[in-house]
Amino acid sequence: MTLHQIYHGDCLEIMKQMEKDSIHLVVTSPPYYNAREYSTYKTYQDYLNFMDEVIGCLPRLLVEGGYFCLNTTSYTEKKVMYPIPFDLLNICTKHGFTLMWDVIWLKPKYTQALWRSSDYNYKKPYPYSLYLNCFHEYLWICRLGEQNRDINEEALEASRIVGNTIEIKGKLKDEKILRYSYREWEFEVAKPSKEKHSAAYPIELPSYCIELFSLKNDTILDPFLGTGTTSKAAMLLARNSVGIEANKQYFELIQKKLVPDHKNMYQYYSQQEIDNMGLKEHLVEFKNAEFITPSKYKVYLKEELPTKVKNARNTKIKQEVAEEKKIQSSIDAFSKEE
Ligand SMILES: C[S@@+](CC[C@H](N)C(=O)[O-])C[C@H]1O[C@@H](n2cnc3c(N)ncnc32)[C@H](O)[C@@H]1O
Repeated sequence: MTLHQIYHGDCLEIMKQMEKDSIHLVVTSPPYYNAREYSTYKTYQDYLNFMDEVIGCLPRLLVEGGYFCLNTTSYTEKKVMYPIPFDLLNICTKHGFTLMWDVIWLKPKYTQALWRSSDYNYKKPYPYSLYLNCFHEYLWICRLGEQNRDINEEALEASRIVGNTIEIKGKLKDEKILRYSYREWEFEVAKPSKEKHSAAYPIELPSYCIELFSLKNDTILDPFLGTGTTSKAAMLLARNSVGIEANKQYFELIQKKLVPDHKNMYQYYSQQEIDNMGLKEHLVEFKNAEFITPSKYKVYLKEELPTKVKNARNTKIKQEVAEEKKIQSSIDAFSKEE
């Protein structure tokens, strides 16, 4: 069973009340200064001060050697570029994080006009007056401290990444491992019209991070939950999650996203059951708690074994069944003789 806790409120307030060392991985996409309607920082420095406080809360919550995956991009307003990813990376380093991987999220090209028409000369651009569009975002993969967590072999084996086998030039390769082995990750943007949120990330982004930098049954934190994408990814990958979102209007979207899309995969509990399980007690530790959705997850439904492994396993099962039948028939023959 995995547990998914969603809190309504300012992540700074809520994180201060959370238990020390209770998180194994943080995956998040914070506001990009004032790029969206939900942010109104007075100055860029105010924004950086806020992010400094937020990132400063993480070392207490994360286990030593835990990872922090931070998705951001630069923001240009009135011809001024705000180098958000680089300033946030400096803040991470200041708080004891080490940059492990600089991943670039590549979006499909030419989904926007080549130059933005509003502020710049769109039809007949002159030198120095162009707005250069951008098809990438940054994803800093940072680790708290100098070493990876202490992990026992069994937990590692249980969380092994398994994908689909594909054939490339006559050789069998694991397609998922191929995709994961580059620092450029290509996937579509989440559609704002579908998400009803202007800046949701596609589920692949937190899913890749969770599979690569956490173990099954770990707890994943997203302090800027938005529509709940990180919690959904955690749920599908058999991890627990804690999500915090300041804007009440996104709670309906979060609830929708977390509603089971396969009735055999999750079991939701009634308020009565939650009360009986004593989970409510856990919830009231926090102010503004909205709802809690424990889910029961059957790992085998989601596990995609490569054909080679599947075949090998089936052959082994067949051999075992044949062996058992042989033993059974000799027992039968023996008891008949008696
Ligand atoms: C870039 S969006 C995150 C989108 C999310 N990754 C998704 O897939 O839906 C940032 C979110 O942070 C929320 N937010 C801004 N300030 C916050 C704060 N102080 N505490 C918690 N959430 C906050 C915003 O309302 C917004 O939904």
